[in-house]
Amino acid sequence: SSMVDAKEKHKDILNVAHRGASGYAPEHTITSYKMGERMHGDYIEVDLQMTKDGALIAMHDETLDRTTNGTGLVKDHTLEEIKELDAGSWFNEQYPEHAKAKYEGLQVPTLKEVFEAFGKNANYYIETKSPEVYPGMEQKLLDEVNEYGINKDKLLVQSFSSESLLKMNKLDPTVNLVQLLEYTTPAKLSDAEVQSIKQYAMGIGPNSDMIDREYVQKVVQNGLEIHPYTVNEKEEMQKLIDWGVTGIFTNFPDLLHEVKKGK
Ligand code: G3P
Ligand code: CA
Repeated sequence: SSMVDAKEKHKDILNVAHRGASGYAPEHTITSYKMGERMHGDYIEVDLQMTKDGALIAMHDETLDRTTNGTGLVKDHTLEEIKELDAGSWFNEQYPEHAKAKYEGLQVPTLKEVFEAFGKNANYYIETKSPEVYPGMEQKLLDEVNEYGINKDKLLVQSFSSESLLKMNKLDPTVNLVQLLEYTTPAKLSDAEVQSIKQYAMGIGPNSDMIDREYVQKVVQNGLEIHPYTVNEKEEMQKLIDWGVTGIFTNFPDLLHEVKKGK
């Protein structure tokens, strides 16, 4: 029945722990990723930046300033320098209601450390950030995925840059890709855009606040996955699920888990 279909659909919604459980712990730390897993996140979301000496690290911004006690561009610092930084204390200051002493002094993880901590068979949802700033980022990512024997059936690579995704697709067509999109006005997707994205990606990730039911249904009817970002309130999660999204990026994976359970 349609009731059963609706419930089945509910269960399949991918719960993407955005920067880990970043509502509760400092984003892009192993602690935050572990918390995401414990809170029933299906995927660990990792944003990539590259150091001066070519190491891939998990960080959202191109600069160190917001999420560490360092300053300046990631690309102007070596991994050794970045490893000395405190990637947790800022969170305690910014979010005293979620502060914990154990967050002080947490390190910026490398992608390799993330792979070591969670293993080959974890679900990684990895974003190539500012790929134009970091030539060779896609090859480096692929090399590390291969080196660690990461299960590619469980890997998703995402980017706002279609060039970066096309590069990944050329390097290894077996890697599943998601095209991120950012709308500043009500979202529309033409048939031509859908067809062009379908050439290389299995889904899209639009910002959640400019899409509507019609948009979601068009995407789904065209056989693409749709994972809106970043949704932190239960009512909005429920609305998006009702519209037919197939996954959601959230800083609060526990809340999405509750919505999926009907709580
Ligand atoms: O990757 C989905 C979402 O995280 C995109 O925005 O800026 O949080 O990486 P951002
Ligand atoms: Ca991201």
